[in-house]
Amino acid sequence: MPTLVIVGGQWGDEAKGKLVDYLAPKADFVVRFSGGNNAGHTVIVDGEEFRFHLLPAGILHPNVTAVLGSGMVVCPKSFLDELDSTQAGGRRIGKPLVSGSAHVVLPYHRMLDQYEEEARGADRIGTTSRGIGPAYQDKAGRFGIRVSELVDKSRFRERLRGVLDYKNRMLEALGGEALDFESVHSEYAAYAARIQPFVGDAESAVFEAVSEGKKVLFEGAQGTFLDLDSGTYPYVTSSHPVAAGACLGTGIGPRAIDRVLGVCKAYTTRVGAGPFPTELHDDVGEWIRNHGKEFGTTTGRGRRCGWLDLPLLRRSAQLNSLSGWAVTRLDVLAGFEKVQVCTGYRLEGQRTEQMPQDTVALSQAEPVYEELEGWQGDLRAARKLQDLPSPARRYLDRLEEFTETPAAMISVGPDRGETIVVREDLLL
Ligand code: IMP
Repeated sequence: MPTLVIVGGQWGDEAKGKLVDYLAPKADFVVRFSGGNNAGHTVIVDGEEFRFHLLPAGILHPNVTAVLGSGMVVCPKSFLDELDSTQAGGRRIGKPLVSGSAHVVLPYHRMLDQYEEEARGADRIGTTSRGIGPAYQDKAGRFGIRVSELVDKSRFRERLRGVLDYKNRMLEALGGEALDFESVHSEYAAYAARIQPFVGDAESAVFEAVSEGKKVLFEGAQGTFLDLDSGTYPYVTSSHPVAAGACLGTGIGPRAIDRVLGVCKAYTTRVGAGPFPTELHDDVGEWIRNHGKEFGTTTGRGRRCGWLDLPLLRRSAQLNSLSGWAVTRLDVLAGFEKVQVCTGYRLEGQRTEQMPQDTVALSQAEPVYEELEGWQGDLRAARKLQDLPSPARRYLDRLEEFTETPAAMISVGPDRGETIVVREDLLL
């Protein structure tokens, strides 16, 4: 069974990068399908840390074709900077392939991201300020400039001229300064010249790889509840991080996907605003943040931290048709005498086990907890389930039972090797 989609099961930052890196040696293709350089995938190899925002984390493996799919929005400078830094010192990496149908993030997108956040006032989303929302707005509004147009000299000049005239009127109306056409054009034409060799028909390449039975790993970014449709709207990103996004963002159909691995932390985190029923505003939340180094890879912001939310994970399993879970950061939670897991909510005096789909209702939902025994000690040396303390195994059992989804992998530390494979048959 050769295709596997990896998705974030919560609100992003579930350590998808590490799992992609772990599975990528078996893959022929690693394909990102949504988002842009708002993502932050950290991979640690032999103590050396790599941070990917735009390139698929799987690019660290030289035999892999690393695709940036049509569902992505591409900041060309970020692409080139990451490519340069990943290759520094002569490191051999995979072959990048950027879909010509992906959209380009331009300077006015970043400016508009800022203006839109200001306009939201107290309801600000807390975006990553990378221009992601405005770039997707342009795509849906048919103003977007595709990568294939960026690398076509005369077409790019013509498209930029038309779009920039309009964007400058918006920027000026919002109290900003108009951008100079020649300077934007010359900066982006220079990026285009360097990106051009990597641009191609990624949709056909992925389709052919799937048809030929090659192993294709789809690398999700962000998380299920940041999805534009299925997430906690409007506190979401503007793309589709759910498993279905792998189809939309690469041009394959649903039957081409064999398995879906949902990645979840052993607790819950969220960056930016929006409902988070199990958030902890006390010393425990602070302890998890510091102990788990829960600070954003992209923005450096401290992440909001809380207990594991099982109804949320069950909803995630449903939304993504999960085959299995990869549970990460189990090691971080060691040290508590007792741990809490949310098994339902109290909402308007009623108790429910269903995660409310409505954002306002979710923000009013009070978690109902079940107390489980905590575990102690350093888990990082564990390489099989039996190496884990029995309370940690019971914690995993409860997760599996509640979400009706098996744990396929457990991560007990940031390094590639600090991993337990439970169900090889659910992976690539
Ligand atoms: P945007 O994607 O920059 O528009 O941000 C929208 C929301 O998604 C904000 O709450 C961000 O904090 C969040 N977000 C975007 N990318 C990530 C990610 O990779 N991890 C976690 N949160 C993210």
